Amino acid sequence: MSVFDEATVGELRELMGRYPQARSALLPMLHLLQSVEGHVSTAGIELCAELLDLSAAEVSGVATFYTMYKRRPMGTHHVGVCTNTLCAVMGGDAIFERLSDHLGVGHDETTEDGQVTLERVECNAACDFAPVMMVNWEFFDRQDPASAVELVDRLRDGEQVASPRGAEITSWREAERVLAGFEDGRVDEGPAAGDASLVGLEIANERGWSAPVADSAASAAQESKGEAVAEADTQRAESETVAEESGADVEGGAGDRQEASGGGSEPQAEGKADD
Ligand code: FES
Repeated sequence: MSVFDEATVGELRELMGRYPQARSALLPMLHLLQSVEGHVSTAGIELCAELLDLSAAEVSGVATFYTMYKRRPMGTHHVGVCTNTLCAVMGGDAIFERLSDHLGVGHDETTEDGQVTLERVECNAACDFAPVMMVNWEFFDRQDPASAVELVDRLRDGEQVASPRGAEITSWREAERVLAGFEDGRVDEGPAAGDASLVGLEIANERGWSAPVADSAASAAQESKGEAVAEADTQRAESETVAEESGADVEGGAGDRQEASGGGSEPQAEGKADD
């Protein structure tokens, strides 16, 4: 009997129904299982395999390939410290070391109170805010060792914490449910883009810069070239169709030629023998 209740199985099936090919739902299904169990368990892998008509090895291969899927139980909060190149040189390594000492855990380990799982994470595409941390996949920009310690202490004390970009921090499991595709109604919290990402746009606006407009003559030439290529493709397809339709005649002709050739060689051989 499945360890998952009917509601969870129903939601897994709902995810499967969102895609033309049900197996395309595997990634959100694994996120949903993480929101229920706190990790991807063996039972979860077997359930996905059964629902999607895949082997357990195939599902396991996906669940162990992507680092966002966890095979061991997670803490209430996932705290990721970016230690990729730019964040590392801007202080990411120092933040991780300080947090590791403070929490008494290393990479991919959970504190004894079960509150925080610490992880070194790769570039979050937020290098303009380096060094960055993530809590349950929400950004915490421009951190330093002291602010990082204060942040995890507040999380462990159960205080309400908000990302500098506006989002209220929930739990890792709740965030996983959103990643699975079940919205929590809070998608609009915070700005669409952070201030550092908009600096270039502000400078461009001040100086009256804009993206180059496509040259109309070049566009017309490109369009004409595209039409010519399409026409050539159509003609080739038509000639191939004609050739296929007359395929029997062509084969027959070739066979006739072979027969004629064979018939013609025999007398010559005989002629040579006679010689
Ligand atoms: S290196 Fe840290 S966000 Fe890119």
